[in-house]
Amino acid sequence: MKPFINISSSIRVVLLGALLSAISSNAAADDAKKIDITDDTFKCIQEMKPVRGFFVGNLLGKLDDTLKTATSASGGRYPPGSVVQLVPTEVMVKHKEGWNPATKDWEFFELEVSNSGSKIKTRGAVEVVNRFGGNCFACHVAAKPEWDLICEKDHGCAPLPIATDRIVAIQKADPRCKPTEVKPVAAAK
Ligand code: HEC
Repeated sequence: MKPFINISSSIRVVLLGALLSAISSNAAADDAKKIDITDDTFKCIQEMKPVRGFFVGNLLGKLDDTLKTATSASGGRYPPGSVVQLVPTEVMVKHKEGWNPATKDWEFFELEVSNSGSKIKTRGAVEVVNRFGGNCFACHVAAKPEWDLICEKDHGCAPLPIATDRIVAIQKADPRCKPTEVKPVAAAK
């Protein structure tokens, strides 16, 4: 019976470790530095500003500052309020400095989107996992420091297993956009 006792106690240790790391990642988050974000914060991706292959916005009215960083050839730190999206369902939002130093104050979101709007499915810091089981932070932290966790194609992250034309199609198919905002595609014959 001894091995069973050892196995179950090691499972307990693993569970406790997971619990403690969840608590400590929350403790690291300073809520005073948090920008208020609800389901209604997120809108049609095509209404955001396109930068190369992704889209940006700013929740604090500082879009010019966000664009300055996003278009800088040498990178830089995105200003608080920055919203960055590649696909409709995955978002990074920059909180105020000090919210969570581990993620450089980025919060990761996975959304459910439909023609009635957005619903936040998961949000948080280092612990957020997307629908494919991938941890957002684990991939994005590989970006070289000057790129502030933004991966693009050549910032040091492992590439996504999705072709760029497929990503563009997903962006155009955002169900939150009004039909007139999306360029019509030729009907299949
Ligand atoms: C398997 C690794 C991986 C995972 C997991 C992952 N990403 Fe990314 N993400 C990337 C890569 C690589 C790019 C750049 C792709 C490109 O431009 O072709 C990217 C692009 C993005 C972008 C556009 C800005 C940028 O960094 O280029 C955002 C925003 C984003 N991801 C958010 C998320 C969120 C939120 C999650 C979790 C819900 C997530 N990602 C999970 C690797 C990942």
